[in-house]
Amino acid sequence: MIKKCLFPAAGYGTRFLPATKSMPKEMMPIVSKPLIEYGVEEALEAGMSDICIVTGRGKRALEDHFDVNYELEQQISGTSKEGLLDNIRQLIDQCTFSYTRQHEMKGLGHAIQTGKALVGDQPFGVVLADDLCINTEGHGVLSQMAQLYKQFRCSIIAVQEVPEDEVHKYGVIAGQAISDDIVRVEHMVEKPSKENAPSNLAIIGRYILTPDVFDLIADTEPGKGGEIQITDALMKQAQRGCVLAYKFKGKRFDCGSIDGFIEATNYCYDRQCIEQSV
Ligand code: UTP
Repeated sequence: MIKKCLFPAAGYGTRFLPATKSMPKEMMPIVSKPLIEYGVEEALEAGMSDICIVTGRGKRALEDHFDVNYELEQQISGTSKEGLLDNIRQLIDQCTFSYTRQHEMKGLGHAIQTGKALVGDQPFGVVLADDLCINTEGHGVLSQMAQLYKQFRCSIIAVQEVPEDEVHKYGVIAGQAISDDIVRVEHMVEKPSKENAPSNLAIIGRYILTPDVFDLIADTEPGKGGEIQITDALMKQAQRGCVLAYKFKGKRFDCGSIDGFIEATNYCYDRQCIEQSV
């Protein structure tokens, strides 16, 4: 039902310098698959086959990845390596990809606003590809959220309990529990100190947003860090209507940090090394 999924991928990825000096952070591989490919797989599994990517300078490798490479494919055709491209070929066949550029990196809210030209006036998914979500039971996180959207028809954000001394890295929510895994959002604070955090429920990089969010972002002043924060716009949406926070099922790795990236690599290598080897 939700067809479009937006991938804000214009950030500089400074925590991975020098690797990200000329390579998009989203192209960093977990074992042999780039982060963004895991994200697109998750979107497709949720039925979102229109992939909208917000890019920036130095991000052309993203477009090349979701395109055919005739020379290479010809070269490995008929060899044992041909199968290594099966997954990406399937994604290319089953999805459409469109791109727009964020000219100035003014924050995640601004990146999402930039995607309006691609998304239009319909509900859409958002995937931050540097949050890698591995589906451990049944469906992927975005698919779980799409199911909830069918029921509630409002914006939904994925949250996870984090240790108190890590809340300062996240947007943090609090509100009224509707069930064991759904909270109606009443408070939302971007990167609070431990003392000011309303809970330990941290927002991770998966959202389903209703399109009224675009006007709310347009009216949002720069917040924490001088950036236009999606959390500030979502707080307005929560006050005017309804935003739900969903404690998803599955495993999530913060691959925007070195520690999370290494942890994800070890986890995926242990699970997938046999399939990956040629
Ligand atoms: P991060 O906060 O991880 O920033 O962005 P970053 O620039 O990618 O990485 P560091 O902190 O410098 O290492 C979260 C997500 O929002 C996107 C990023 O690409 C990432 O997917 N983003 C952020 C944008 O697309 N544009 C922005 O202006 C900021």
